Amino acid sequence: MNNKTINKVIDKNQIYLDVAQLHIDTIKNGFLPSLGIKFLALMYKCIDEAQFSILITNYKDYKLRGFVSGTLGTSNLYKAMLSHPLDLIFALIPMIFEIKKIKKIINILRYTSGSNRNKFPKSELLTICVHPNYHRQGIGLDLYKKLSQFFKSESVSEFVIIVGQSLNANSFYKKQGAKIATEIQVHSNIDSNLFIQKVD
Ligand SMILES: CC(C)(COP(=O)(O)OP(=O)(O)OC[C@H]1O[C@@H](n2cnc3c(N)ncnc32)[C@H](O)[C@@H]1OP(=O)(O)O)[C@@H](O)C(=O)NCCC(=O)NCCS
Repeated sequence: MNNKTINKVIDKNQIYLDVAQLHIDTIKNGFLPSLGIKFLALMYKCIDEAQFSILITNYKDYKLRGFVSGTLGTSNLYKAMLSHPLDLIFALIPMIFEIKKIKKIINILRYTSGSNRNKFPKSELLTICVHPNYHRQGIGLDLYKKLSQFFKSESVSEFVIIVGQSLNANSFYKKQGAKIATEIQVHSNIDSNLFIQKVD
């Protein structure tokens, strides 16, 4: 089920909050959850509304079981967020004095526009999450296939996935045929794999 179907019964803003909450609950040690639910909900709103990106959800009985998001280029995503300046300011105001977080945001922006990242395809799977109650039931695979179909419809032949080396998701991506192209450090002391997935 994608958003176009579910929107008939669930308010869009509720979908963005559900997605943000599932992100926070399932990737507890990630950096983005530390930016708060308002920031994440705004990010997923921008991803859903823009032409160059996609948010695919899986709901059952009004409960979000999983979602995947992807983009044809992360720089477009940042521009889309800047086009909601007031929402962005309100989402970021609580961390205005948190220098470490601000440094990490700068690290992400620097990495995503830097020469290391530019060697690889621009299209990227941003996040995939399935609620722990529904793991190993094929929901992740279904979402991944739908994201691949989106990339195919945009004539994209391969896409990037960046994932912390400690996460189980590495096994999931390998199972789908993604190959590790390089190891990277977006933040100091956190090693990540950069996978490339070919689109059939
Ligand atoms: C990665 C994730 C999305 C997989 O979702 P899922 O719905 O459980 O995956 P599927 O049931 O479709 O699994 C498909 C195959 O992937 C592999 N796989 C999935 N989870 C795995 C795990 N934890 N360990 C090893 N292999 C795994 C298996 O081969 C599985 O097939 P099988 O169950 O027949 O053996 C889910 O574990 C998750 O949400 N993790 C937390 C969030 C996260 O870390 N996301 C990645 C960062 S962007």
